Amino acid sequence: MTEHENKTAKPLVHLGITRPEELSALFADLRGRFDADCACAHDESSWKQFRDAWLGRKSGVLTQITDNWLKPATLELKRAVGAALNELRAHVEAKIEERRLTIESGAEESALARERVDLSLPGVMRPVGSHHLIRQVFQEIEDIFVSIGFSVVEGPEIETPYYNFEALNIPEFHPVRDDMDTFYLELPKSAKTPLLLRTHTSPMQIRTMEKQKPPVRVIVPGKVYRRDNPDATHSFAFHQIEGLAVDTDITFCDFTGTIEYFVKQFFGPSVKTRFRPSYFPFTEPSVEFDVSCPFCGGTGTAASGGTCSKCKGAAWIELFGAGMVDPAVYGFVNPAHGGGYDPKKVSGFAFGIGIDRLAMLKYGIDDIQVFFQNDVRFLRQFP
Ligand code: PHE
Repeated sequence: MTEHENKTAKPLVHLGITRPEELSALFADLRGRFDADCACAHDESSWKQFRDAWLGRKSGVLTQITDNWLKPATLELKRAVGAALNELRAHVEAKIEERRLTIESGAEESALARERVDLSLPGVMRPVGSHHLIRQVFQEIEDIFVSIGFSVVEGPEIETPYYNFEALNIPEFHPVRDDMDTFYLELPKSAKTPLLLRTHTSPMQIRTMEKQKPPVRVIVPGKVYRRDNPDATHSFAFHQIEGLAVDTDITFCDFTGTIEYFVKQFFGPSVKTRFRPSYFPFTEPSVEFDVSCPFCGGTGTAASGGTCSKCKGAAWIELFGAGMVDPAVYGFVNPAHGGGYDPKKVSGFAFGIGIDRLAMLKYGIDDIQVFFQNDVRFLRQFP
């Protein structure tokens, strides 16, 4: 731009131009310069610089022509300079605007390219959690019982002593209450009855019978509480599934058959079951169910030849308590609600499965505390 800058800085006479014919070459040269400059403006900032160089009010080329060529021109030249300048101005203005549009649309295109969402990039992976092992075992056991006609119900974790004890044939001062020491809630003096955290899911036997007439086939999964000191096999909170079946013709055979079916579904078809006499105030007879040790195949000897660490050589593992519903229990079912629980007409069985214990057995876990610590290194092992 230097050459024509210089030229436009000087009056025409200094350039030796005195006749109108000599103007056309001069303007053609300027126009050529302009077109070359124009092609160099590729982005917004170089375009602005270019525009100011040509159209700038103070010292743009066109202003210089006006000031240095037109104004001092002789009368003879003035008209021709004016005409040529107008022509050049029209060209310059049109081209500069055209260039602006080209740059703008180019910028849009490159912005589009820059901001395009690349669908082939991997997304942000969020870790997906899984069900807690206890929840998984609940689900597994529920599925087995639901498949043979039981339905699932849930009950309150805060109970009255009546449902937790008395209605289950456990009067005040009965010695089994010692094993079921629990947490009592602090209540206002005006409270009608004490409240406690249930020590087992058995209160739901009564609550269920009060709600519906026989036949009853329910299982009750849930949390239970006892004032046990925490160690590898005890926790102040743990999980049970209660089972209750009551009908007009339920026998001890139905009872053992149902339990055996469940145990084989849960541990595999090769295990054997057995029961031993036991005692619960709300079942008569009461039993303790054992399963032949699924880890040593019921031999008591590990594959290595040593004593099986799971059953400690006993070949059997104690599973859970159960029994035929004690006829006395039907007497506690409030006839105003339930009705139809005449001990002479109905019979049934009940069981209470400790979920934590079963999960520990099945998955080889040796400390109940890991269920409550929620260490992800443990949880992740059971996706
Ligand atoms: N509720 C008993 C317990 O927690 C278990 C049980 C339930 C026993 C039902 C017999 C029948 O120890």
